[in-house]
Amino acid sequence: MIHSQIIGYGHYLPEKILNNVDLKKFIDTSDEWIYTRTGIKQRHIVESSQLTSDLAIKAAEDALLSAKIESSLIDCIIVATTTPDNTFPSTATKVQNFFKIGNIPSFDLQAVCSGFIYSLQVADSLIKSGKFKNILIIGAETLSKIVDWTDRRTCVLFGDGAGSVILSATTEKRGVLSSKLYSDGSWHDSLYADGGPSLNQDVGKIRMNGQDIFKQAVNKLSESTQNALNECNLNISDVNWLVPHQANQRIIQSTAKKLGIDNNKTISTVEYHANTSAASIPLALSCSIKKGVIKKNDIVALCAIGGGLTWGSCILKL
Ligand code: ACO
Repeated sequence: MIHSQIIGYGHYLPEKILNNVDLKKFIDTSDEWIYTRTGIKQRHIVESSQLTSDLAIKAAEDALLSAKIESSLIDCIIVATTTPDNTFPSTATKVQNFFKIGNIPSFDLQAVCSGFIYSLQVADSLIKSGKFKNILIIGAETLSKIVDWTDRRTCVLFGDGAGSVILSATTEKRGVLSSKLYSDGSWHDSLYADGGPSLNQDVGKIRMNGQDIFKQAVNKLSESTQNALNECNLNISDVNWLVPHQANQRIIQSTAKKLGIDNNKTISTVEYHANTSAASIPLALSCSIKKGVIKKNDIVALCAIGGGLTWGSCILKL
């Protein structure tokens, strides 16, 4: 029986930091408003010359280093992103070209903030098919390029960054134990970009009904995590760490409460990274593992929700 385990973790954050006080220079807001409602204190922001692929490549280099494998052993690349460099070709092909790994499939996956969870399920299935051995998965975003910096209701929430994992075939029963993915397109208007190649030939800016998303997030994240636990016959008490999508500290805490897991078993990086969409979970995972917080053999529950709506959960044994 083939299983898929994560053998390497990496991340990259752009150098420039914009804190809540900096935001006051160009929008009517306050550190107190942002922090009490979201838990966010700061976000990393790319320079205008930095592309999503630049962040993706740096996170991938870090993951390869931690996995201690040569890039030539990677046999598929998936980049989860909502902010690709170009409308086409995919950002994943830019990563492939950088590493000069010949004749492998590489593609982007668009599921907004759920992109990493979706990618993990796709990569797990590819590995379990027996056709692939080492898949490089990257969540990378330059959301600062598609936020409306005049809209205080959204621009304070997002940041840039990238996280990466290498998923590898193993005969040991570990790695991805279960995953559940969902979508409901009737929520389209609650969170979307008001542009696109087919719609208006423009990239568009992020538009959101925050209260709709907040209400949906807590229920959907907790239900999908419980369903994923049921699928692998585990209970919430078996989970060492909950690593939720890092959108908002209040959503994270309410989800943990609904699931019945302590806040001290819940990873939160939203204060420092803000919402980095598809990058948020691999970024939080990589940071926590490198700090020695999450350890080998831990049971980790991942959950995410994003525009679409799309959502899902994944249970891992590291
Ligand atoms: N600074 C100061 N005041 C603000 C700001 C700001 N940055 N943004 C909004 N306000 C004002 C509004 O204008 C409004 O003022 P008014 O009553 O005079 O019109 C007031 O604050 C309340 O606005 P609401 O939008 O009702 O604020 P709410 O309490 O709902 O909080 C928030 C907004 C934080 C976005 C909340 O709805 C939320 O957390 N939603 C979850 C959405 C989320 O996290 N999305 C991330 C992307 S989606 C994802 O990743 C899953």
